Amino acid sequence: MGKTPRITFRKLMPDDAATCAALDFRSFGEHDAWDRQDFFEAAINADFEFIVAERYRQIVGCAGAEIFIDGVAEIDSIAVDPNYQGQGIGKQLFIRLLKAVIKRGATFVVLEVRPSNTAAFNLYESMGFEIIDRVKNFYVDEDAWIMAREFKRGTFNERDLSSNDG
Ligand SMILES: CC(C)(COP(=O)(O)OP(=O)(O)OC[C@H]1O[C@@H](n2cnc3c(N)ncnc32)[C@H](O)[C@@H]1OP(=O)(O)O)[C@@H](O)C(=O)NCCC(=O)NCCS
Repeated sequence: MGKTPRITFRKLMPDDAATCAALDFRSFGEHDAWDRQDFFEAAINADFEFIVAERYRQIVGCAGAEIFIDGVAEIDSIAVDPNYQGQGIGKQLFIRLLKAVIKRGATFVVLEVRPSNTAAFNLYESMGFEIIDRVKNFYVDEDAWIMAREFKRGTFNERDLSSNDG
């Protein structure tokens, strides 16, 4: 945690939609990024859980998931401003997001990642996520790995995150 000075975390608000959409566009490009309306919907729709990371009230990261009624949560997006990557912010965002969705009843968390995205893959793997499937041509230019991890209902222990025993 000492790697992330002056970073605070809070829920996504409707007014953050444009900033998060711009961050997403820089991170994922025109084909994969969420737009302003997507983030606005995520902020007002209770099925979504989105968190932003701020440095001096400037958003430097955003992560979120959709929660389904059957205990499944799907990670929709995680992105950290390139100027602030490698400082532990993505890991903190992901831990806080997992904590939030588990608190809301998720027991199975699933996500898609590009096989070429080493940073994201390492982050997820370090949190105990495993590849469960590969989807051909999921992205315009690449397949996707589907990664997932089970959690015990309502249980979140940060110390257990690096293992896969929930
Ligand atoms: C993936 C992303 C969110 C990680 O955020 P970050 O703040 O840079 O990551 P952190 O500094 O918290 O690092 C967390 C872990 O991620 C992995 N990681 C981060 N950067 C990495 C890199 N350049 N190379 C390899 N692994 C890396 C490591 O496992 C790291 O843990 P460690 O520091 O203990 O080794 C960030 O790289 C990003 O925004 N990328 C563009 C958007 C994106 O690809 N999102 C994921 C879509 S599936």
